[in-house]
Amino acid sequence: MVLAGSKKNPAFLAPLAGWTDKVFRQICKAKGAAMVYTEMVSAEGLQHGNDRSLTILDFDTIERPIGVQLLVADANAFENTVPLLDSLQPDCVDLNFGCPVNKVTRKGAGAALLKDPDRMVTLAAVAAKMSPVPLTAKMRLAESEKQTLEIALRLQDAGVQAITLHPRTVEMQYSGRARWDCIARLKQILSIPVIGNGDIRTPLDAKNMIDHTGCDRVMIARGAQGNPWLFERIRLFFGTGSDPGPPEWGTVLEMCHSHCQKIIAHYGEIRGLKIMRKHIVSYIKGMPHASEFRHRIFRQTEWAAIQEQFVIMKKALKSLEFIPEMTSELANGTVPDH
Ligand SMILES: Cc1cc2nc3c(=O)[nH]c(=O)nc-3n(C[C@H](O)[C@H](O)[C@H](O)COP(=O)(O)O)c2cc1C
Repeated sequence: MVLAGSKKNPAFLAPLAGWTDKVFRQICKAKGAAMVYTEMVSAEGLQHGNDRSLTILDFDTIERPIGVQLLVADANAFENTVPLLDSLQPDCVDLNFGCPVNKVTRKGAGAALLKDPDRMVTLAAVAAKMSPVPLTAKMRLAESEKQTLEIALRLQDAGVQAITLHPRTVEMQYSGRARWDCIARLKQILSIPVIGNGDIRTPLDAKNMIDHTGCDRVMIARGAQGNPWLFERIRLFFGTGSDPGPPEWGTVLEMCHSHCQKIIAHYGEIRGLKIMRKHIVSYIKGMPHASEFRHRIFRQTEWAAIQEQFVIMKKALKSLEFIPEMTSELANGTVPDH
């Protein structure tokens, strides 16, 4: 498999359910992500021609290299997706062996497979043979580090061409620190590429992970939410040794506004207004006047009114003064809580 990116541009955008849609992937790509992934999509859903599942797999050529991430519980379900994968020709198909969500594990997919390595390896072996494009896997830690390494070796033998490790157990969910040492040991024993994932928030974090573990590439999830500049910063840092730091708030607001415009253009107003909320919250975290702005935006039901709020907020950021309309409304208690 040709590994996307390079030593100077090593950062991938992780699969993030509810986040890494076509709009966000294209923004991250434009900001320098070396590879992007779709949100996870259930092979079962695809099999039944579920519209929402099919939409998740929709991507444009400019997003390449792109990985399609599948939640699969057994080889049959994978087999049924092969014609679709063949027509889409993503750059790789990534099997999800890490999702800890009950809804997923109940069906025997995601992290449930970590508890059943024989089933996981059989599935991977069949998928590697049938897949029309390179097959990769993304996993969490199994019960012990020893077991994790054994599973990864078996996946490599089964034909998996790269492994991403998010070194937390299912029980840890997102608590504690990702155990980067486990990525280092995985890198020592595998001959296929290892992609390290977990707790990268700055270019220095990316460098530290690579220095500490020797991993071939890094993958970023939460650090990219409301922060697509991280990819640009990493590329600059790895290329020149200097990090320009985070952008000014005015630039962040511009990006937030343009991201929302793209969401509305892609999904239409009704669906778009719902989808954009989480992105807005991420972008404006820590921004001056953020809570006033959020209150104002969240009570609007029309995109035109939200656009007006962006204009007001842009002015407020420039003058660094509170926005009179907002403060008076807040003082009067007329802004509803969300
Ligand atoms: C909201 C959310 C959605 C996620 N969706 C997926 C997913 O669809 N597939 C997957 O393999 N991991 C998913 N993850 C896990 C991330 O890809 C990543 O492994 C994890 O967040 C650790 O990386 P980070 O510290 O950079 O966030 C998700 C995580 C979050 C917070």
